Amino acid sequence: MNTLADLQTAVDKRRTFAIISHPDAGKTTITEQLLLLGGVIRSAGTVKGKKSGHYATSDWMAIEKQRGISVTSSVMQFDYAGKRINILDTPGHEDFSEDTYRTLMAVDAAVMVIDSAKGIEPQTKKLFKVVKQRGIPIFTFMNKLDRDGREPLDLIAELEELLNIEGYAMNWPIGMGKGLKGLYDRANQRVELYRPETEAQRFLPLDEQGQLTVASDLVKDNVYQQALDDVDLLNEAGNAFDPDKIKRGDQTPVFFGSALTNFGVETFLQSFLEMAPAPAKHVINDGDESLSPEDRRFSGFVFKIQANMNPNHRDRIAFVRICSGVFEKGMDVTLARTQKTLRLNNATEFMSDERENVENAVAGDIVGLYDTGNFQIGDSIYQGKEKIKFAPLPQFTPELFVRVTPKNVMKQKSFHKGMQQLVQEGAIQLYRTYTTDDYILGAVGQLQFEVFQFRMKNEYNSEVIMTPIGSRTARWVDPEQLDEKMSSSRNLLVKDVHGAPLFLFENAFAERWFHDKYPDVKLTAKL
Ligand code: G4P
Repeated sequence: MNTLADLQTAVDKRRTFAIISHPDAGKTTITEQLLLLGGVIRSAGTVKGKKSGHYATSDWMAIEKQRGISVTSSVMQFDYAGKRINILDTPGHEDFSEDTYRTLMAVDAAVMVIDSAKGIEPQTKKLFKVVKQRGIPIFTFMNKLDRDGREPLDLIAELEELLNIEGYAMNWPIGMGKGLKGLYDRANQRVELYRPETEAQRFLPLDEQGQLTVASDLVKDNVYQQALDDVDLLNEAGNAFDPDKIKRGDQTPVFFGSALTNFGVETFLQSFLEMAPAPAKHVINDGDESLSPEDRRFSGFVFKIQANMNPNHRDRIAFVRICSGVFEKGMDVTLARTQKTLRLNNATEFMSDERENVENAVAGDIVGLYDTGNFQIGDSIYQGKEKIKFAPLPQFTPELFVRVTPKNVMKQKSFHKGMQQLVQEGAIQLYRTYTTDDYILGAVGQLQFEVFQFRMKNEYNSEVIMTPIGSRTARWVDPEQLDEKMSSSRNLLVKDVHGAPLFLFENAFAERWFHDKYPDVKLTAKL
């Protein structure tokens, strides 16, 4: 990559996004179809054989194998229609973690996959909120059209009501389930048949008035007439297509399809690539400056640290989202937090199921750096003399808490060392009880505790006992207003790693009770 024009061309090609969904909506299936289209895999069923027992990345953490799920998000890269696509996967299990949230900080767009029989489910809603706060484009794929699902108009209305985002239907189902005939494609002015007699008949063109230009039995079909009526309604009373709103994440283009039968997926991908943004500028150095992705100085931030991907080596991998410039193996960079210089010798790039050495990764791409303990989540790295520091990653307030004690009290040293070091990575929150200094861990999902326990044993030879104290709401309190007597089992008083006091409330009732009893005491949720 010799010239600025080369770098610009390379950056312009990048499309980096995550797929968010509730478990079982079809995220893995659609990811596989996208990888098939990109020529990365040759048959479906290779990404995650969660039931067949085949694991894509066979040397990942043992815990991942035991549970048959992906503990942390992986990155898949492929080329399609002149674009280089990076899909950042997010665990589709209910035990998702802060990693899932943080991965959403490293993408430029999100695709929301919804089961059209179920509509918007809880995990989709949680993930959606995080994406919405970022103000990036959100695309929707209503999946499983080959099954009987909810009325499409209902699904669009639900988007608006539950997620408070406008929906714009790019295409519209003609029938569903056994009666699925095709898609009325408003965006491409054509009908896409579900089961065409020949491949050449898959697409039937529409004229300016939205009527078929070729003779087809479809027009005699009730479901086709129904689709036309619905589309008329959308044209008259639905939202107008608005690229600016889409850019800000205030309107979501909605696509219908069936990932399993590979129907509507390619149409979706093509439109998505036209609309999804290339890497954008980043605000740096406390909001004072902005950094263009085409700036020649390499820079990026760590959004996740994955330990022990290969049990034979005690390696950790820091996942870096490149924000500007070109990554080159062996380059020297500065770690903004410590101002230390690091040489980036070993880097990996993640193709669907193998790790390959990186060449010429640019802004928008993700590289995995072998880490011997230098990095923390949220770290900025940069090339050159002028400091580049990205905005800190948001902290996601933990909802689940456990008390941690060593199994063997004689092994206090390795216990404390493990606790301190693992917490430093930034994936899990540590608190100490106010008077007794007990260790309390807080996480977004149960899985983070299991990973923590596993790593304590494997990396620090320290077996720990975790006693759940359940789901709690964390509220910080002004130290000036604090009286230790305010604490009870329903609102456990702890301090965070900075020594700031907070209460862990058992439930909303306990919090209300506290407010009633101490109306002057101000509590804050730190997000
Ligand atoms: P996830 O990653 O979001 O958790 O979902 P995944 O793709 O694993 O899909 C969950 C289930 O839904 C799978 O069935 C999958 O085959 C099915 N599925 C996905 N897309 C479609 C679709 O468009 N139509 C229909 N009818 N089904 C779809 P399973 O029986 O739970 O698993 P498996 O044994 O097929 O792996």
